[in-house]
Amino acid sequence: MKRILTGLKPTGDLTLGNYIGAIRQMVSMQDEYDSFLFVADLHALTIYQDRLELNERIRKFIAMYIACGIDPEKNTIYIQSENEYIPAISYLLECTTTYGEASRMIQFKEKSKQNANFSVGLLTYPVLMAADILYCDCDYVPVGIDQKQHVELARNIAERFNSRYGETFILPEPLLSETGTKIFDLKNPTKKMSKSEENPSGVISLFDDLTSITNKIMKATTDSLNQVHYDLENQPGISNLLNIASSLTNISISELEEQFKGKGYGEFKKFVADITVKHLGEIQKRYEQIINSKMLDDVLNKGIKHSRQLAKEKYEFMKTKMGITRNDLKI
Ligand code: TYM
Repeated sequence: MKRILTGLKPTGDLTLGNYIGAIRQMVSMQDEYDSFLFVADLHALTIYQDRLELNERIRKFIAMYIACGIDPEKNTIYIQSENEYIPAISYLLECTTTYGEASRMIQFKEKSKQNANFSVGLLTYPVLMAADILYCDCDYVPVGIDQKQHVELARNIAERFNSRYGETFILPEPLLSETGTKIFDLKNPTKKMSKSEENPSGVISLFDDLTSITNKIMKATTDSLNQVHYDLENQPGISNLLNIASSLTNISISELEEQFKGKGYGEFKKFVADITVKHLGEIQKRYEQIINSKMLDDVLNKGIKHSRQLAKEKYEFMKTKMGITRNDLKI
C-alpha cells in the first residue's frame, strides 16, 4: 500500500484553504493509502506564539481533522513535537542541505523580508519539513501549491542523501488537488487565504459561525464583468468562488459556469455561501462532539507510538549510513 502524509501548522485557526488544499485530499485518499496526518507544532514555533493559545490550538486541530472526516482507524494521527526523532533526523538532513537551497525557498524569502530579526528556525524550516516527510518513506504529500517547493526540496535532499550514503529514502512527490490548490482571500483575491491574516473578513475559519461565513462570502470582492466565468487573471474573485464551489461539490468548473450563465453574482454567491455553510455546519457539529472526548488522547497515543517507531528505525539507519554509530556499519 502506498503511503501519504501531510501536516498543518497551528499558527492560527484552520481555514477553508487548509481544508480544501490538504485535509480534504487526505479524506478522499484514506481508503486507498496508508495515511499519516500530524500537527506541525514545531513549525509553528519559528514565529513567536502565545503558549496558551498554541496549546489549545494543537488539540483543536486534531479534533477538527477527525470532524473533517479523517478516520482515526485509517490514519496515523500525531503531534510532531512528540516524536523526538524528527528534529534529530532534521539535523542529519541539514548537513546534506546547502545554505543556498534553504535560502532560495520562496516562503523563507518572503518571511525573512517581513521581519529582519527572523529566527534560524525560519531558514531550517523546510529541512524539518523534509524530515517529517522522509522518515516514514511516504510516496505522496497532498499539499496546496504554496508547499510544493518545500516537498520538492525534500525530494532533492533525499536524492542527495541516497547518492552520498546509499539507498535510504523513497523520493516523495507533492500531490495537488485539481481545483483547490490555492484558495484566495475573499477580500483580496490575489492573495492566499491564510490563517495568520490579521484582517479576518476575507478568511473563512473552519470555526466561524455560520452567519458570518455567509456574510463573508456575500461580501467577497468580485468585478464588474458580471459573468460567472473562470479567469484567474481578470476575474480572480469569481474564479476563487468557482474553485471553492467546485471543490466542495465535486461539480466541475465548466458545469458551474453553465449553471450560472446569464445569472447575477448575487445568486452565485448565495449558492457558494449555502454549500459552504452546509459543509462546514456538519463539520462543526461533529467537532463539538469530539473536542471534549477522551478518544483524542487514545488516537494520539496510538499515532505517536507508530510514528516514533518508524522514525527511530530511520534515524538509526541514517546514523549507520553516516558512520556515527557503535553498531556494525555493514548494512
Ligand atoms: P500550512 O499550515 O501553512 O498549511 C497547511 C496545508 O494547507 C495548504 N493551504 C492551502 N491550500 C489551498 N489554499 C490555501 N489558501 C491554503 N493555505 C494553506 C498548504 O499548502 C498545506 O498543504 N509547512 C507546512 C506544514 C508542514 C507539512 C510538513 C506539510 C510541516 N511539515 C510535511 C506537508 C508535509 C505548512 O506550514 O502548512
